[in-house]
Amino acid sequence: MGKCLKSLSNLLSLSLIIGRANQIDDVGYQRLGDALKSFQKITSFTFSVQNDNLLNSESLKFICEGVETMTNLTSLSINIEANIIYTEGAQHIGNCLKKLKNLNNLTIQILHGNCISSSGAEALAEGIQTLVNLENLQICLQTNYIGVVGAQNLGQAIKNLKKLKYFFLKLNGENQIEEDGAIGLSQGLKKLEELRNLSLNIGLNNQIKTEGFLKICKSFESMEKLQSLNLFIAKKNIIGQEGAIQLGKSLKQLYTSLSSLQLTLKDVEIGFEGMEGLMDGLKSLKQLTYFIFY
Ligand SMILES: *[C@@H]1O[C@H](CO)[C@@H](O)[C@H](O)[C@H]1NC(C)=O
Ligand SMILES: *[C@@H]1O[C@H](CO)[C@@H](O)[C@H](O)[C@H]1NC(C)=O
Ligand SMILES: *[C@@H]1O[C@H](CO)[C@@H](O)[C@H](O)[C@H]1NC(C)=O
Repeated sequence: MGKCLKSLSNLLSLSLIIGRANQIDDVGYQRLGDALKSFQKITSFTFSVQNDNLLNSESLKFICEGVETMTNLTSLSINIEANIIYTEGAQHIGNCLKKLKNLNNLTIQILHGNCISSSGAEALAEGIQTLVNLENLQICLQTNYIGVVGAQNLGQAIKNLKKLKYFFLKLNGENQIEEDGAIGLSQGLKKLEELRNLSLNIGLNNQIKTEGFLKICKSFESMEKLQSLNLFIAKKNIIGQEGAIQLGKSLKQLYTSLSSLQLTLKDVEIGFEGMEGLMDGLKSLKQLTYFIFY
């Protein structure tokens, strides 16, 4: 495979998808990584490793060393399902991102089992913050034991992305960003004035409290061009009546642009007054053509 790829030096777009439970070893990944160095013209690359391949950080390092030579890349997607890259693996990805200044479209999905933790999120954030041309950023770090600091670092990183139009962030599953992590994220979100689509999945375990939720809602108010909002928050997060009222107020500010809204507030107590406040905001969204409330 590595040898064959090497001879395709004119490739502009490549997707490498390693299916479930393959037996590629370190040497195999090293050959693949070397082959990636032959694609100087490539603009779009997808690397996916499905469940149970036992991809580790050493193997991922070979791939990242290949990817960082693709300096003309504008679109990169890295999807690592249940494998074992850990914090070090995330560091390799973060380092390679720093070399890819032309990226405008980036997807990073690292699923459970990889356990990148806050230090891994920090390394990714360090890479992401250098990508000032990004317009589309999708990050899914479901169940990676990311705590307060990891979320704060991600918040810092997105602050720099002034051109960002589409942002998807999924921190569901076993992550625990807490109040301060949510506040850190909100500080980044409020700088994203060009945003068109925002999807924020806080899941059910992050334990953010009313103050964190309030700040996140307020950050929406600076997104004057926001057309689509998808917000998911559940159970072990506390919104309170105050949070729901703020959400209503913040939505109201988006009345000229918002056309699509998906709100999932699942098993969070917002009370009667919270519901009223939320409804008060919703009814001013005259441009809304698509709405799901759960
Ligand atoms: C990289 O992109 C630049 C600008 O689009 C182009 O001039 C250059 O030829 C490209 N390099 C390669 C190796 O394709
Ligand atoms: C961005 O990348 C994703 C994932 O590779 C792809 O599906 C999407 O079409 C790309 N979008 C643009 C605008 O290139
Ligand atoms: C933005 O949101 C709209 C409405 O939900 C959707 O149709 C569109 O595909 C989204 N665009 C991107 C680039 O995700």
